[in-house]
Amino acid sequence: MPDVTESSGTLGARISGIDLSRPLSGGDFALILRVLSERGVVCFPDQGLDPAAQAAFSRRFGELEVHVSGAFQVPDQPEVMILSNMVENGRPIGLADAGQDWHTDMSFSRTIAFVNVLYALKVPRRNGRVLGDTQFADMAEAHEDLPDELKTRLAGMTATHDFAKFWDRMRARGGAGSVRKPLTEAQRRSKPPVSQPIIVTHPLSGRKILYANPGYALRIDGLPQTESNTLLDALFVHQLQPKYRFAHQWSEHDVLMWDNIRTMHNAVADYGPDEHRLVRRCQAMADLVFRPGWAAQTMRAAA
Ligand code: SIN
Repeated sequence: MPDVTESSGTLGARISGIDLSRPLSGGDFALILRVLSERGVVCFPDQGLDPAAQAAFSRRFGELEVHVSGAFQVPDQPEVMILSNMVENGRPIGLADAGQDWHTDMSFSRTIAFVNVLYALKVPRRNGRVLGDTQFADMAEAHEDLPDELKTRLAGMTATHDFAKFWDRMRARGGAGSVRKPLTEAQRRSKPPVSQPIIVTHPLSGRKILYANPGYALRIDGLPQTESNTLLDALFVHQLQPKYRFAHQWSEHDVLMWDNIRTMHNAVADYGPDEHRLVRRCQAMADLVFRPGWAAQTMRAAA
């Protein structure tokens, strides 16, 4: 029988008693969707997942995205990406600085991302202390606390999100040693900036989400640049207050899944080159979850 334990804040739950390497029953899938909808971030401890099983589980939530960089893919499994600071035979085996600042994956894409599914193979530790947490911020709670007049104003607004903003910043931070290559013109063209509503209604919970993030949101459409910068900066400060945050401390063989519509995340870079972190990552897009009736049907099928 699956067992669900909630964390103390608004985000985070652990589900044990479901083996994700096997096809999910309708009941287990519905339970996972419900917990994800309520808690935003879900850990499944002690899993044994090969890349194919990780992709099969992730695909239940939407079409899998192949990362635009085309780098660090599992052989014959391009939708599974390696995140790691490990170097073998003089070559990095994974993207070493993935997600190391606050952002929401794929907010720069016309079809946004629904879930990320990460599987930890190595977790860095120093003197027994676990490093390399993944932090989250709850953008549903952040929206709820906004003053009413700001909610009303933002409800009609869109912001432009750009993939290159985060990529170029991470490249600049990595300096000459960055594992991120400059984006080619073709890569930039394949990810043109897109406008997204600043307030999104969550397709599972119906809650309003403050859908802007410092990683990719460039400007608020239609506002003068300085006014846009001031408003966006104020929203980012608001979203990142400690009361909205949750941190996942990893153990080897955790599967961690999170809802990119409701949360922002940040991979904490507090470990050194010899403190190895190795994670496999899949990402499912929000094609199914926004399909009218999909969630309700999935839940009904399980009843
Ligand atoms: C990501 O942004 O997908 C990576 C998060 C992590 O490695 O903790």
